[in-house]
This record gives sequence, C-alpha cells and structure tokens, in this order.
Amino acid sequence: MTPVVESASLRFAEDVRHGLTSAPKSLPSKYFYDALGSMLFEAICLLPEYYLTRAEAEIFNTHADAIVDAARPDRLIELGSGSAMKTRILLDAVLRRRSHLEYVAIDISQSALESTAKALESEYPGLTVRRYHNDYLEGLTRLAKDSTARSSPGLPSTPDGRALALFLGSNIGNFEPAQARAFLQSIRAVLKPGDRLLLGTDLKKDATILEAAYDDALGVTAAFNLNLLARINRELAGDIAVRSFRHVAIYNEAAGRVEMHLQSRSRQTFTIGAIGLEVRMAEEETIHTESSHKFSPDEIAELARSADLAFETMWTDSARRFACSLLRVA
Ligand code: AVI
Repeated sequence: MTPVVESASLRFAEDVRHGLTSAPKSLPSKYFYDALGSMLFEAICLLPEYYLTRAEAEIFNTHADAIVDAARPDRLIELGSGSAMKTRILLDAVLRRRSHLEYVAIDISQSALESTAKALESEYPGLTVRRYHNDYLEGLTRLAKDSTARSSPGLPSTPDGRALALFLGSNIGNFEPAQARAFLQSIRAVLKPGDRLLLGTDLKKDATILEAAYDDALGVTAAFNLNLLARINRELAGDIAVRSFRHVAIYNEAAGRVEMHLQSRSRQTFTIGAIGLEVRMAEEETIHTESSHKFSPDEIAELARSADLAFETMWTDSARRFACSLLRVA
C-alpha cells in the first residue's frame, strides 16, 4: 500500500500539474492549509475586515439555546472541527440540558484534531469525543460504517440517537455550486430521519465590504494566498519568484462569489522540478486560487431543497452579514 504521506504529496503534485497546464490557470484552495497557511488562516479570523468568524460567533452567543432546543441532539458531528471555538458555545448549551453528549470531530489536521479533542475532554467531563482524522467525506463514510457496525444484530446495541451535524464558517462557500449540492447530499445520506445539519453561510452584501474581507490592510490574506506559491517551491522543488506575483481579490457579482487570484506582475517562466514542468505566464495573467460563494436566504433554502433537506430555521447576526440555517433530514 502507498504510504498516506506519499500519496498526499503525489496528489498535490498531480493537482498542481493539472491546474497550471489548464486555461485559465488555477490551483485548488484546499492546498492553502499547510502548517503556515493554517496559522495565517487563524490570523485572518482575527482581522477587523474578516467579519465572518465574529458574525457566526455572535449568532451562537445569541441563539445557542434556540438552536439546541430545535435540534435536541444526542450527539454533535463537526465537519472540520479545527479549534472548535464556536462549538464550545453549543456544547455549553447542550450540557446545561443533559449530563452526557457524544462529540464526533472530523478534521484533516491530525494536530488540530488531537489538541482540540484532548482540551474538550478535560473541559467537559460529560463529553465523549470520537476522532476521525479524515477529510469531510472520508470521515462521514467511516462514521456511517462504524454506526452501522455498532447497531448490527449480535453486537451490544448502542443507539446513536439524534445527531446534529455542524458545517460552519461558510466552508460550503468554497465548493462550486454542483459540488456543494453533492456534498450536502452525502451528508444527508449518512444521517437518519430527524437528524439535523447546522449550515453556516456568508450572505451576499456590498462588494466593498466583501473585497476588503479578502484583501485586508495588513496583507495577511495576501500572504495566505501567496503562501501557495511558496508551498510549491518548498514541497515540489519550484523556483517561483513569489514577489513576482500580486494578490487579487474581486467580487464576481454575476457568479455570487469572491475570487482570489495570483496575478503575474510580468511575463515570466518558472519551473517545478518535482514534476518536470515549465510554466509560462503573460504579464497580468492570473492563477485562480479560491472561490468563496455568498448566498441570499432564498439561495440557502434552494440549496437545501436540492439536497433533499428540509429548511427549518435561519438565524443571522444583528447586521445580517452571516446566517446559520437548521436543515432537517425528512
Ligand atoms: C475557509 N473559508 C471559508 C474561507 C473563506 O472565507 O472562503 C477561506 C478564506 N480565504 C480567504 N480568506 C479566508
């Protein structure tokens, strides 16, 4: 069997080759999150311009009780648990109502998963934490298999109860619309009737506010974007002059998404040694690195319907910048 680390770097190499030989050029945004990129993202969440994290936390601080009363969960399943900062507000609300709860954490980062799980176990004596070191879909599939095994005839019965899955932070916005629908369908396929999904989405708003959120004054988001080129240099023996690119963030209103690009400041050629690739770029040509879709309330309801999930309730922050929607498996 190919070792996990080796197959991950082969996939990175293959995705880089594919993206940089396509027209227009692109790179998948999932590769932002190496050790440095993950730290830069944590910093982005503290920036005054990046309102998303604070707006979602405000929703939790204001409406956690209403969310928990509507979903009445026996277990929480968090897709991309990270540091679970906002989750603690929900955990507090659940554990005020009952003494025990199961928390299933699914995260691609082994270190974030372990440190969050350990911290939660020591902070909440009533909490049982199950860890899945996987990407979202692999984690959900493994969880579904484990749940089936736990309720198989012949094994001691441990009913899983009602689940509340959490997909927060507007992570859904980084999928293309068709992928977003397929992803929600996969979540739905793993859940049982009566289970709920709490979906965090950024709302459509003025382009100036959106563009500032993705192009902050300190240049942290620019560093987050440019780090992708630095990562290619580090991991795939590239010779890209990182300073020969500029960070660009624009709101594409027709597509309802903020796009991040890396724009070449001049005509240039660079090579990526590990895959024997020479890349030519024209002056001002861009590499599209991320799309961050924004939604209207109707679009959220429509997305839920397209994945066969019943739209129950939507909570927003006081400035109506961000929404958390409760969706039910019928
Ligand atoms: C993780 N994701 C929801 C962020 C977003 O807003 O699309 C990633 C990000 N890109 C630039 N800033 C933050």
